[in-house]
Amino acid sequence: MKDRLTIAAVSALLFTAGCNLPQSTLHPAGRASGILAQLGWIVYILFGATAFIMWILLAWACTRKKGSLETHEPWHEGGGQPWILIGGFAIPFVVLCSLFVLAMERMSEFPVHQHHEVTPEIEVIGHQWWWEVHYLSGGPSEQFVTANEIHIPVGRPIDILLESHDVIHSFWVPALHGKVDLIPGQANYIRVEADHAGEFPGQCGEFCGMQHAHMRLLVVAQSPQDYDAWRQAQLKPAAVPQNEEALHGQEVFNNAACALCHSIRGTVAQGKVAPDLTHLASRKMIAANSYVNNKANLEAWVVHAQSLKPGAEMPNITAFNGKDTRALVAYLQGLK
Ligand code: CUA
Repeated sequence: MKDRLTIAAVSALLFTAGCNLPQSTLHPAGRASGILAQLGWIVYILFGATAFIMWILLAWACTRKKGSLETHEPWHEGGGQPWILIGGFAIPFVVLCSLFVLAMERMSEFPVHQHHEVTPEIEVIGHQWWWEVHYLSGGPSEQFVTANEIHIPVGRPIDILLESHDVIHSFWVPALHGKVDLIPGQANYIRVEADHAGEFPGQCGEFCGMQHAHMRLLVVAQSPQDYDAWRQAQLKPAAVPQNEEALHGQEVFNNAACALCHSIRGTVAQGKVAPDLTHLASRKMIAANSYVNNKANLEAWVVHAQSLKPGAEMPNITAFNGKDTRALVAYLQGLK
């Protein structure tokens, strides 16, 4: 009995805690996710009530008078038939049809774009296993590239173009919208809008290989002023190393394979196959939003990426000595 109570208490705790997690679909922060949450609640309550009634009926059927099949009335002579027709067909038919129509009606409010109809502000390209993010608005001098952390202004719909260069991924930030897939060779769109400032984590919603679970992202919704300030900072080339150690770190970066894969704008590092690191230090997380962006994790990532994210394209780099590794990380941490 005590065990059962403990299990019930833990389940209830997990359930309520689950509802408060940042990736809960029941805590919408935008119009689209609001519609989805509303539909979710309707289905949840309706099916909860159905399950409750079914259990009551089942309990009633189990406890009412016993007997054998011979003493039981045949099903077509009174008794069972109306239950099957009404409870088994009529009610489910009405309920499921109503839900279908309601869902179609509400979801028709989400725009479905064709290529020529929309000018996306952001392009997101899915990679195994990270997100390449291009800010497209304005002329070439106002465009920039970043990775895994997407900033948007509050209160304005933002159209995002979704593409993939390898396999199918799915863009999913539960607080803002449902999932839309990134499919190689096809342009898909999603329109997100945040109604208040905040950080909304998301992740790839389509199994895409070994590190699918570490293909996470963060949407940061900011007031228009903060967003503009962020944009201006992102547009700048990378910060110049401020001390001897960071300067040495830059040499290490540029003389090793790092610069062949990663870009740091304003330097010779122009690799295009890995995340852009121009303003790496301004991002909260590393490894596709999987680990906090701090010194220890950066060092671990450089030396042992394959332990933190087995199968990722980032190799273990064991060629540097301790001094080089620390200098490299000092350089990366200066990329504000
Ligand atoms: Cu990308 Cu799952």
